[in-house]
Amino acid sequence: MTGEWRKDFPILSSKVYGHDLVYLDSAATSQMPRQVIERLTAYYEGEHANIHRGIHHLSEEATGAVERARARVAAFVGAEHADEVVFTSGATDSLNMAAFGMAGSLPAGSAVVVTDLEHHSNFVPWQQACEREGLEFLVCPSSDGELDLDALEGLLRAHEVRVVAVTQVSNAVGTLTPLERIAGMAHDHGAVVVVDGAQGILHEGVDVTAADVDFYAFSGHKMCAPTGIGVLYGKRRLLERLRPARFGGGMVDVVTPRETTLGTLPLRLEAGTPNIAGIIGLDAAIEYLEGHDLGAMRRHERELLAYATERLSSVEGVEILGHPRRRCGLVSFNLAGMHAFDVAFMLDKLGVAVRSGHHCAQPALRSLGVESSVRASIAFYNQRDDIDRLCQGLERLGALRR
Ligand code: ALA
Repeated sequence: MTGEWRKDFPILSSKVYGHDLVYLDSAATSQMPRQVIERLTAYYEGEHANIHRGIHHLSEEATGAVERARARVAAFVGAEHADEVVFTSGATDSLNMAAFGMAGSLPAGSAVVVTDLEHHSNFVPWQQACEREGLEFLVCPSSDGELDLDALEGLLRAHEVRVVAVTQVSNAVGTLTPLERIAGMAHDHGAVVVVDGAQGILHEGVDVTAADVDFYAFSGHKMCAPTGIGVLYGKRRLLERLRPARFGGGMVDVVTPRETTLGTLPLRLEAGTPNIAGIIGLDAAIEYLEGHDLGAMRRHERELLAYATERLSSVEGVEILGHPRRRCGLVSFNLAGMHAFDVAFMLDKLGVAVRSGHHCAQPALRSLGVESSVRASIAFYNQRDDIDRLCQGLERLGALRR
């Protein structure tokens, strides 16, 4: 099956330093299938126009395409209404929108909880917003890569927590967090849950209604769409209360020198011309995933990740970071006696692309007692041979060291 999907990704036939490319960096950005690339070309060649602004044919067509994409995204994440989907430039933009849009209206004495597994984009915006608004900023700890839910319960009991911001999947460790349980705990204490779905959306997916999450943020480029497009899903009543972070065209109702009244959802949160091509690319990516048996793709990813974890454990000198109950999409590790940057640099020379460093998640790595790691992240278009090539590369590096 993987062969079928793999052939849709032209970049996977590239050579790097004379080797067949092994792409194990989908957590940084996933690759785009030909179908998405062709859809973008068709848009630029024959459909490009601004939306919501013209009554000419092209503008109406582009507007229709964007609104159809919104409906498809809403269905993809299980939202009840299409206007609960706000287009942004990426997960970071979405999370900033949620943090700064909400913090100003929280009562004095309120607290926000994030976790130490967060990517900086679901950590720093809350830290900054709390500092600006004089709110309490709290960090729920993890242990060996698993979120400490007893500690979360303790924070919820001891403080006036109004927001719990949590990742669905840790981009540094691969931990899959129990979203429904966390949402239930937060709601029992009157807090809303903001989920960073950047790493979860492709490999795990979400049903925001079933999981009862209040906000869910993700990026297109981590799910086979282009860069520069993202989504903030929010429950309608919460989005209606969110203060826009940006003002300008398209989001207003009446503008006079005395005052401006804002338009309705979702446009009130989408000032300016959006990334129309990006939205159309995201639509095409979802169409591709849904049309190619997403369930089978995810099963293949889970098997491949289990294989990778087992195979890596058998490489001498490799230490896998964190032992969460459930891991999703990636595995982080270090090779004894070598800095993560050197490992990634040398693997690259063998055609193997991995990420190294702190993965924009310094608290997560520090909780595991390290400052950096090598990360191998997969997608459905990877195959066992990719993992074998990674491990053979590490074995060669290990032999160099001795
Ligand atoms: N957030 C992306 C990563 O984890 C860039 O690599």
